[in-house]
Amino acid sequence: MAKFFGNLNLVMLVGLLAAIGVMFSYQDIEPVSINTVFHWLHVFIGILWIGLLYYLNFVQVPTMPAIPAELKKGVTGYIAPKVLFYFRWAALLTVVTGLVIAWNAGYVHRALVLQGATRAEDMIGLGMDLALIMAFNVWFIIWPAQKKILGIVEASDAEKAAAAPRALIASRLNTLLLLPMLYCMANANINV
Ligand code: HEM
Repeated sequence: MAKFFGNLNLVMLVGLLAAIGVMFSYQDIEPVSINTVFHWLHVFIGILWIGLLYYLNFVQVPTMPAIPAELKKGVTGYIAPKVLFYFRWAALLTVVTGLVIAWNAGYVHRALVLQGATRAEDMIGLGMDLALIMAFNVWFIIWPAQKKILGIVEASDAEKAAAAPRALIASRLNTLLLLPMLYCMANANINV
């Protein structure tokens, strides 16, 4: 038992097989399609992205000042790079799965430019635009700044000092945008 649950990949594989079992058990009410599979993948990877945004803003950033200097390396050298790996790739995959859903449903362009055929399309379009701003912040502001702060790329002390507030503001802006974005995502209900 401990051997099985000690192996994360094996646990995820069995979870995936269980999910596929559920998909085919409910084919009668929800036929398996690009739409159903990508909705599931979208919410799965979206939770990972947002979960790490919560961790960074509610746990890591507020706690760092209280951590003794000699222990900070545990976070900056080991935990933070791992967090940023899953954070940025989850952001990208959330965008990709979301665009596939909208493209498959035929409203991707008009939703993104907020010219939806229905109010619901405008609502999901607003959610998508806010989420795309969030993904831009991750890949083009937070990650480049964090690479300097964590010493993943060469940077002078002045560059590191300038990167820190840039990363914090972009991360807090994402925390702010998350709330209206998620309301649109959860309630557009175009899928119904
Ligand atoms: C943090 C980022 C995001 C989270 C947490 C998130 C979460 C969600 C959730 C919970 C749903 C509802 C699923 C359902 O009703 O079955 C949803 C639907 C959707 N999301 Fe996202 N989303 C995010 C980003 C994005 C992005 C970046 C895009 C595209 C650019 C996108 C496009 C969509 C679309 C098209 C739908 C389907 C709407 C519907 O059928 O009602 N999402 N999202």
